[in-house]
Amino acid sequence: MSLEGRTTVITGGGRGIGLAIAEAAAEAGSNIAVLDVLDKPHKRISELGVKGKYYRVDVTKMDELEQTFGKIGDEFGRVDGCVPAAGIVLDKPSFDHTWDECEDLLKVNVRGAYFSTQLAARAMRAQSTGASIVLIASMASHHAVPLQHLSMYGPTKGAVRIMMTQMAAELAPWNIRGNSISPGFIRTEMTHLCARQQPELSKVMGNAPPLGRIGETSDIVGAVNYLLSDAAAYTTGVDIPIAGGMTCGRIAS
Ligand SMILES: NC(=O)c1ccc[n+]([C@@H]2O[C@H](COP(=O)([O-])OP(=O)(O)OC[C@H]3O[C@@H](n4cnc5c(N)ncnc54)[C@H](O)[C@@H]3O)[C@@H](O)[C@H]2O)c1
Repeated sequence: MSLEGRTTVITGGGRGIGLAIAEAAAEAGSNIAVLDVLDKPHKRISELGVKGKYYRVDVTKMDELEQTFGKIGDEFGRVDGCVPAAGIVLDKPSFDHTWDECEDLLKVNVRGAYFSTQLAARAMRAQSTGASIVLIASMASHHAVPLQHLSMYGPTKGAVRIMMTQMAAELAPWNIRGNSISPGFIRTEMTHLCARQQPELSKVMGNAPPLGRIGETSDIVGAVNYLLSDAAAYTTGVDIPIAGGMTCGRIAS
């Protein structure tokens, strides 16, 4: 599962799941390029014990993304892994979604993930040494979620999963693997904001998964490191749900 000598690009790596993925990839030996729209990341990327750099970039802006991948090429020399984790959520009844809110979700979660993947894949193809892309979908792409109203967020994550399936097949000739994970309710700023809107959400999400608790970012990173590494050399085109068993339902006890 070593990522020694590799370079991994993580979008949305300034905090939350993306930052945890960046830290875990660094722990496995990978150099890391972290992209996020935040002024600065919640942890200094240059202090993770590997070569690490933070790039302030909005993944919905193609010119910024292209420039940033160009800089990563100059500064790191290669891209071996990419985790497009930048994402936003909208938890609101479908009756009240606005056009602009839906457009924002599509821009960040679908188009941002798509073009981050495209730019990473171009660099990977040019290297012809094999590589891995791990997209971040969601359990909301598999089924409805208790209490939450995710009628547009869920579809954006469904798009991410199908994107992964299509790209995995297309990129396989260059030994570029594409997989995704579908996290359940994971404790981050994103879910903290959702729980502030609906205070009972944390309790419900703590009870709903058969494993009987909310997920932590530490529950996510092992699967991502596995998919990035050579341990998953024969694994492509799959989605790994990490939702405490939410996908298999809860039997009342
Ligand atoms: N937390 C969960 O329960 C959960 C569950 C399933 C999927 N996810 C997905 O995991 C990913 C990370 O979520 P999180 O919970 O860590 O959320 P978070 O809000 O804590 O982190 C998301 C990061 O993405 C960045 N971002 C947002 N828009 C951006 C843009 N336009 N350009 C660049 N960066 C941008 C934010 O600044 C932030 O740092 C998201 O794609 C989210 O949809 C989260």
